[in-house]
Amino acid sequence: MVEIQDYTKALDVLEEYSPRDGLHVDALLDSDKHGALTYNDFLLSIVLISRAAFPASDVTLESRVSRRLTIKAPLLSSPMDTVTEHNMAIHMALLGGLGVIHNNCSPDEQAEMVRKVKRYENGFILDPVVLSPKATVGDAKQLKAKWGFGGFPVTENGTLHSKLLGIVSSRDIQFHNQPNDLVTAVMSTELVTAPAGTTLAEANDVLRSSKKGKLPIVDEDGSLISLLSRSDLTKDIHYPLASKVQSKQLLCAAAVSTHDADKIRLQKLVDAGLDIVVVDSSQGHSIYQIAMIKYIKREFPQLDVIAGNIVTREQAAALIAAGADGLRIGMGSGSACITQEIMAVGRPQAAAVRSVSSFAARFGVPCIADGGVSNLGHIVKGLALGASTVMMGGLLAGTTESPGEYFVSSEGQLAKAYRGMGSIAVMEGKGKAGDNAGTARYFSENDKVKVAQGVAGSVIDRGSVTQFVPYLVAGVQHSLQDIGVKSLDALRDGVNRGQVRFEKTSASAMAEGNVHGLHTHEKKLYTS
Ligand code: IMP
Repeated sequence: MVEIQDYTKALDVLEEYSPRDGLHVDALLDSDKHGALTYNDFLLSIVLISRAAFPASDVTLESRVSRRLTIKAPLLSSPMDTVTEHNMAIHMALLGGLGVIHNNCSPDEQAEMVRKVKRYENGFILDPVVLSPKATVGDAKQLKAKWGFGGFPVTENGTLHSKLLGIVSSRDIQFHNQPNDLVTAVMSTELVTAPAGTTLAEANDVLRSSKKGKLPIVDEDGSLISLLSRSDLTKDIHYPLASKVQSKQLLCAAAVSTHDADKIRLQKLVDAGLDIVVVDSSQGHSIYQIAMIKYIKREFPQLDVIAGNIVTREQAAALIAAGADGLRIGMGSGSACITQEIMAVGRPQAAAVRSVSSFAARFGVPCIADGGVSNLGHIVKGLALGASTVMMGGLLAGTTESPGEYFVSSEGQLAKAYRGMGSIAVMEGKGKAGDNAGTARYFSENDKVKVAQGVAGSVIDRGSVTQFVPYLVAGVQHSLQDIGVKSLDALRDGVNRGQVRFEKTSASAMAEGNVHGLHTHEKKLYTS
């Protein structure tokens, strides 16, 4: 090879090279050449698309979770009974993501969880908890314990649209130890109110200057129409990414099975304010699921339906044709899953994500890469392969916001239970609602012998999602900065055009890419 003396020619000489360094995504995922790959089998090789330098904080991660709904952090928590109940769903939404409330409980219990999410943060609370003058201090204390907030308006007949008499605040009842006293004896009647028609911004100003905890909005007769809460104002400041719908309520998703009986469950969830329903099935391509999608689209046209789980284009086509507003990809990749081993079906997750999401993109249907995410890099890889969002079970199960208590493991570490929804423990109804349970992801009631597709185990403590999710978000932003793109759309576009390229890894490349050769080390991932 002739040596080129003029180094200023480097960029011109580069043009002579074709193809570019690294692999196009389609070459990487050519299963004839490489077999079907999963996240650990490849890396993104950096190609700077943007020539201008920009800080990681300039990267926006806004992404569609379903045809009509967009979130600011592309992260979802799984509908599993050791991962997502109302507390996880509230915090995931506050942090810009979305929690999908599991259905291994009675329809009423699940609807109650949806209601808690929808009530949690509001601009105007359109259905506040209202007390009647006959309610007692004990009643108010019970409601505070149930909902986790205090400050209840008292109206003449105990409902909205009735004359406002006063407000019982947490302080009014905190040290009042006569539970049978009427709330009218302790409530405050010196109220600052705002008239109907007040805008959110005006109402916020009144609330700020009044120093009150709650601002009732009343009509000209003094009847209560809605309520504004001071704590919601501070939440707006602390959670700028929060996933909300127009009413300013948090976005809420929940799972249902494909069983006909779950139509009643769904009605209850919709009555509670559900925005997105996830039809939860381990093999989503079935006549039952297709019938359920069509039913939901017909009966609840305002609801977005996410269908799944699937791993091939053929399955995707059937669900898109039935009307799915989003698809959930993954079969056998979950950390507590033994489907591939026991049933011999499934698909390595990278191959599944690419083939389903590139097909669905042609119809504008966003996809969730579900399962198999055990570190931040896996999130970036799922998104780069075309998923709009990424769903996690095991990674979030060890957080404070997941259901269940921490315990000390035999190795002396703080841990929480995590179990596959197809584990024997779930099938036998252990620890949950048993007979009322709606989960039918892996078996039907007629099955005489239950065949497990998941295991029950535990995961280590990860602290609160209020620290963990911002770490994941910042990490993805840094990764996109390294790649040279400012948004997920730009990332996917760069991948499709072959500007963002890939490398297939080997076992030794992976060893090199991980910490190696150190005598000891501590893997602290983030500071909070
Ligand atoms: P993870 O994030 O790798 O722990 O995977 C979570 C995903 O595993 C869930 O969202 C489900 O799609 C899937 N999953 C949950 N339970 C089971 C099971 O028992 N068997 C197989 N897959 C499961």
